Amino acid sequence: MTTATDSLRLLEQLTGSPAPRLEPGHVWLVGAGPGHPGQLTLDALAALAQAEAIVHDDLVDARILAAAPASAERIFAGKRGGRPSSAQADITATLITLARQGRRVVRLKGGDPYVFGRGGEEALALAEAGIPFRVISGVTAGLAGLSAAGIPATMRGINHAVILATGHAATEEGGLDWAALARLGQPIVLYMALRRLGSILASLQDAGMDPATPAAIVESGTLPGQRVVSGTVGTLEQQALAEGTASPCIVVIGDIVPLRERLAP
Ligand SMILES: C[S@@+](CC[C@H](N)C(=O)[O-])C[C@H]1O[C@@H](n2cnc3c(N)ncnc32)[C@H](O)[C@@H]1O
Repeated sequence: MTTATDSLRLLEQLTGSPAPRLEPGHVWLVGAGPGHPGQLTLDALAALAQAEAIVHDDLVDARILAAAPASAERIFAGKRGGRPSSAQADITATLITLARQGRRVVRLKGGDPYVFGRGGEEALALAEAGIPFRVISGVTAGLAGLSAAGIPATMRGINHAVILATGHAATEEGGLDWAALARLGQPIVLYMALRRLGSILASLQDAGMDPATPAAIVESGTLPGQRVVSGTVGTLEQQALAEGTASPCIVVIGDIVPLRERLAP
C-alpha cells in the first residue's frame, strides 16, 4: 500500500527538488479536501507523512487520518453541532502549545484552510505568537461538490462569475446583502446554509429572484453517501425537509444546476 511517506518521495520525484520539511516547532495548516481521499493533494500527504501531532476537524475523513504515521498524535478539534465543540481560542492555543513543545504540527482542515475554515484566524494567531507556519491549500467543498454532482461551476453562455458565500452570515449583524447577490444574476454556492435555508431562499425571492430559478443541495459531496436534491428556489426548502437532508452540504442556486441532467455521473 502507498503510504504518506511514499507520497513524499513521489512529490520530490515530480518537482525534482527536496520537499519542504516540517520542522520541529512549526505548524502547517493543511487542506484535506471535501472528504474523498482521492481529492487530497500530494503536498497534504507529504505534510501528513512528517506530522508528529495532527489537530483535525470533524469533517476530515477517517481514511485520510489513517494515511498519517500511526505514531502521530491525533487531536480532535471539531466544531459541528450536536457534538462536543472546541472553541476557536482553544484550538489556536493548542496549536501554539504543541509548537512551543517542539512538535511538528499539522492542522488538518476540511476543504481549503482559507475558505470558510477559520484558517485565516489561525494563521494570524500563529503569526502573532511568532510560530512559523505554512498553508497548504486543499480542494474546497463548494467546487468539488458541484463537480461530483455533475454541475460545472462556470459555463460559457450561462455565467461569468460564481459567488461562494456562507449561509451563516444570514442572521449575523452586517451579514450578507442577499438582495445585492440576487441582482447579480450569477450562480451562488452556499456553505453552511442548511439551518437557514428557508430564510435565505425567502430573502432571495423577496429581492426579486424568480422562484423557478434552479437550485440544488449536494450532501456529502465526493463521499460514498453523496446525495443530491434538485429543485428550484421555490421548492428546495420543502424538498430538503422531505428528504431529511443533513450536513455537510452545499447549496447551489442558478442556471448551471440543470446541466446536471446531462452531466451527472
Ligand atoms: C466550516 S466550512 C469549511 C469549508 C472548507 N474549508 C472548504 O473549503 O470546503 C464547513 C462546510 O463546508 C461544506 N462542506 C464540507 N465538506 C462537504 C462535503 N463533502 N459535501 C458538501 N459540503 C461540504 C458544508 O457546507 C459544511 O457545513
